[in-house]
Amino acid sequence: MKSLTPKYPHMLHGGDYNPDQWLDRPDILEEDIRLMKEAHINCVSVGIFAWAKLEPQEGVYDFDWLEKIIDNLYKNGIYTVLATPSGAKPVWMSEQHPEIRRVQANLVRDETGGRHNHCYTSPYYREKVKAMDTALAQRFASHPGVILWHLSNEYGGECYCPQCQAAFRRWLREKYGTLDNLNHQWWTTFWSHTYTDWEQIHAPVPHGETSVHGLTLDWKRFVTHQVIDFMKVERDAVKAADPAIPVTTNFMYDFYHYNYFKFKEQLDVISWDAYPQWRNEGNVETAADFALWHDVMRSIKGQPFLLMESTPSNTNWTPVSKLKKPGMHMASSMQAVAHGANSVQYFQFRKSRGSTEKFHGAVVDHYGGSDTRVFRDVAAVGQRLEAIDAVTQSDVKAEVALVFDMENRWAIEGAAGPRNCGIHYAEQVRAHYRALWSMGIPVDIVDEECDISGYKLVIAPMLYLLRAGFEEKLKAFVENGGTLIGTYHTGLVNENDLCYLGGWPGAGLGEVFGVWHEDTDSLWDDEHNTLRLADGREYGLKEICALIHPRGAQVLGTYGEDFYQGEAALTVNQYGKGRAYYIASFGEDALYRDLYQKLAGELSLKRALEDLPPEGVEACLRENGEAQYLFLQNFSGRQQQVSLPQGYVDFQGQPVEQACLAPYDGQVFCREKQ
Ligand code: GLA
Ligand code: ZN
Repeated sequence: MKSLTPKYPHMLHGGDYNPDQWLDRPDILEEDIRLMKEAHINCVSVGIFAWAKLEPQEGVYDFDWLEKIIDNLYKNGIYTVLATPSGAKPVWMSEQHPEIRRVQANLVRDETGGRHNHCYTSPYYREKVKAMDTALAQRFASHPGVILWHLSNEYGGECYCPQCQAAFRRWLREKYGTLDNLNHQWWTTFWSHTYTDWEQIHAPVPHGETSVHGLTLDWKRFVTHQVIDFMKVERDAVKAADPAIPVTTNFMYDFYHYNYFKFKEQLDVISWDAYPQWRNEGNVETAADFALWHDVMRSIKGQPFLLMESTPSNTNWTPVSKLKKPGMHMASSMQAVAHGANSVQYFQFRKSRGSTEKFHGAVVDHYGGSDTRVFRDVAAVGQRLEAIDAVTQSDVKAEVALVFDMENRWAIEGAAGPRNCGIHYAEQVRAHYRALWSMGIPVDIVDEECDISGYKLVIAPMLYLLRAGFEEKLKAFVENGGTLIGTYHTGLVNENDLCYLGGWPGAGLGEVFGVWHEDTDSLWDDEHNTLRLADGREYGLKEICALIHPRGAQVLGTYGEDFYQGEAALTVNQYGKGRAYYIASFGEDALYRDLYQKLAGELSLKRALEDLPPEGVEACLRENGEAQYLFLQNFSGRQQQVSLPQGYVDFQGQPVEQACLAPYDGQVFCREKQ
């Protein structure tokens, strides 16, 4: 298996390190190295926000301090993830070149300040970034300690400046060719919004055009395109010095503004920053949610990823800065590894003395010593990662794919109806995910551009918008024997958000599901319906009820109430060699648990354990040709016993039949591949 970081092919442990804040304190820089070693840290990310120190005045570079730091780290066995500093522009540049500051949706340009707020189009900023990245790469790419490029930091947001809007119009011309075509696809005859000149097209803003859904969707697509285009400038600059050093950029949790799947071609390694908000109780939901996001990150490139940031203790940007309970640091860190991370990295190593993150958790506090609970927890994770280093050569291999498509999400949430008080696409995706997660079944998260042919089960909730010929992939998948789960709100519009004519689900999916979706009823939050199965079981339903008619499908369950009582609510259709289920409404958790329990048996789906894990315990598998690694994380808040399948040993080589997990414990076992 190819390593994510070939120069240092190991589990990485460390995180953001900002020595540029401490250059006048050589004593502290020296102490940092000692503390890193004590914490079993082998890798730090350097220079992320260091532009002002790297180029103190226009055209005057000073890299000597950085070289000293990287040299010294390397001498001490600590590797460097080297950042490009584009995430925060220096004040001198922002003041001399206001055009690099972002224009917000109110069309007002930012003042100097903050970070992650540069224009992605500005030729000057691109040129400065390219020059800086090139110089950094020429100086450091061949350094034996530099193992990975960290492009910028958390690319985010959008810019509405005239240059970005002009680039948007160029992008639209390329996409649509003619204004006639654009007007047709965007259905602009509605309300007389027909464009007669390309220059009349502006980005959607709250005080301007918000009713043309095709425009809104294309703007979001363009923003992703433009950010990737900017990122390419950075990527090409560092790759020019040595193409063998991989590049990554750190993604964010549930980040709605870009389609992260579109970044996969440009990045060698996916990495992300995970900050679960743990509480005193009720952490299972949070654990399931972060499990899903770890799976998203692994699935983007279909390979292990890096956890680039997490907090060793608390965050300071949340309403409450809560400490992790004893054990939680291990459980939470192992959760990332269990889902495919080959690292546990933190923000940050040493707490900043001033400014906005002075109270954010760090490995080393203002106190400065290693005799703290947080430091000991970090060191324990470091030791654990050393012990399980072989896990880096394994991956999660899922037989189930769950479709979670960002363009579909944008379109659903921007559609106006059928439920403007909450259409809950992500929640619906999570409901399916949680059921599989609680059963220890590995899941990949895919979007409509991914290949789905190799899975046994594909779940595509609320597949409202069909793009890039995805319906063909679904048809072929079922025809060839796959099992597909579809739901209400599927096959309504094409990729430009134009409704299908001739009945839903459109684009031929009606035949696959064997149903016709005639109409949609929406429920208020306090209204419910029920799904009744033939064997008498009943499940609560909420939010949306699709009124469907079987056209070949077998009815497995019907609505229990309202004027459509007795009509189909759950169906299955034989199509080719496979089957397609249609769930017409949003069910309670038990519906998905029972359905996937049944399908797991029928399809012999791979599971981490033979039995169901105890409630709140997550069971995950990583594997390769020789070995299987079983990860158990206990998020239940109570002690738990788990019976392991045969043949597992712990990392001291001792056979284990029963794992005993303290509250918020995380344990790892291995066995030969079965
Ligand atoms: C983000 C950023 C870091 C830091 C942390 C704090 O992930 O990338 O620079 O601000 O948040 O949680
Ligand atoms: Zn701009």
